[in-house]
Amino acid sequence: MAGFGTVGSAVYRNLNREADLILERTGILPEITAIAVRNPRKSRPGGHFPSALVVRQPRDLVKRDDVDIIVEVMGGCTTARDLIFAALRAHKPVVTANKALLAEHGRAIFGESNRLNVPIYFEASVAGGIPIIQSLRQGLVANRFHLIYGIVNGTCNYILTKMSEENLPFEEVLREAQALGYAEADPSFDIDGVDAAHKAAILASLAHGGCVDFHQVHMEGIRNVSSIDVQFGHLLGYEIKLLAIIRWQSENKVEVRVHPTLIPRTNRLAATRGVTNAIVVRGHVVGDIKLSGPGAGGDATSSAILSNIVEAATHLHSSSDDRSPAYLCAKGPEVVPISNVVSRYYLRLSVADRPGVMAQISSILGKAHIGISSVIQPEGHEGKVVPLIFMIHDARFDAMNQALKHIQNLQCVKAKPVMLRVESFES
Ligand code: NAP
Ligand code: HSE
Repeated sequence: MAGFGTVGSAVYRNLNREADLILERTGILPEITAIAVRNPRKSRPGGHFPSALVVRQPRDLVKRDDVDIIVEVMGGCTTARDLIFAALRAHKPVVTANKALLAEHGRAIFGESNRLNVPIYFEASVAGGIPIIQSLRQGLVANRFHLIYGIVNGTCNYILTKMSEENLPFEEVLREAQALGYAEADPSFDIDGVDAAHKAAILASLAHGGCVDFHQVHMEGIRNVSSIDVQFGHLLGYEIKLLAIIRWQSENKVEVRVHPTLIPRTNRLAATRGVTNAIVVRGHVVGDIKLSGPGAGGDATSSAILSNIVEAATHLHSSSDDRSPAYLCAKGPEVVPISNVVSRYYLRLSVADRPGVMAQISSILGKAHIGISSVIQPEGHEGKVVPLIFMIHDARFDAMNQALKHIQNLQCVKAKPVMLRVESFES
């Protein structure tokens, strides 16, 4: 195993604790025989560190005769990539939780896995403990996926939940999520939507039969979501969630986007709290199903890794061909540019409270053929700057963006507008 951090230490702990259960159920008794870490002398409070198993370099793991399977839980794209290629070339199956690596280099990695007929397992790369990869690959194999949407970043959902329920400031809640082991090594991956976009790219590739280019995935994080938007959202009957949305448009075209989204409080994801992830999959045979569970943290993630270790061990002992899905190294569908995507919007402006302001703004929206579905302006701010909230009907993003540029230039608009998408996923 390469890595003994939040995930690696939990894999070690839970594998040892549940070895008998796994043996009883599967006839397999996996054992961790060697571990690579960056700094063997680092103090590791709160758990047993098997220092006798430590090797100097991750690549040393591959050469050992007592290593049949490589578990990569160190993260990053350089050493991890080298290790995985070395493992595949040594005909050792790989288990990884590394969504960044798979989203950015998946085509090459799955290509090598297929060429050499050595499988790579990656259940833990999306939604922690939820078996979404297995569900898409096996449980839902007879379905086409018109829509997949979900909360796939535990850190952001933890932060948004605390903002919604306790009105706590962003930075304080982020520190809590880091201390709980939910956040990535670089937490900006979480809060800027990068981690969710990695996961969206993996899900879109699995669902639509070819590697989706991660760099075409539109991503916005939650840095600009403020408590005032959460509160106005409530007033209008919505919760704000960071969602990954994968919507099939037409032959070979798919929307793959990550952004904060207002969803009706009646939507099945609206009550998803804390680190919990939840994904709705709309299959043309099964209809809508929702998978939900802990999406980050050592224990949840190790549950998915342990299941993959057993799969990899089963593969080693069988003559069946269990290679990674061949389509993951083929070119995937085209990602629809965000400028062409249609959705509803929540728009919050800070405006001078004086006559004519509303008329100026609605005239710009009207000229762009953008319809307003409702407006809120709290009373009691006469002569001052006041929040003005518009709910906007379906509009293309480029039209909305263009209108916003004009609105922003109005003298009565006193701060950068906040624009969030609104989705109800009814069709
Ligand atoms: P972490 O706590 O930062 O642990 C990383 C581990 O990898 C540490 O033990 C570190 O060694 C070791 N490491 C890093 N670079 C290394 C190198 N070049 N050579 C040898 N060892 C190296 O990270 P984590 O949270 O466990 O995450 C690990 C992976 O799982 C990442 O890909 C992450 O995206 C993924 N993941 C995490 C979660 C989660 O909830 N945390 C959930 C799903 C997936 P030292 O201990 O010596 O520093
Ligand atoms: N940092 C990730 C999250 C870990 O918060 O969801 C799980 O992939």
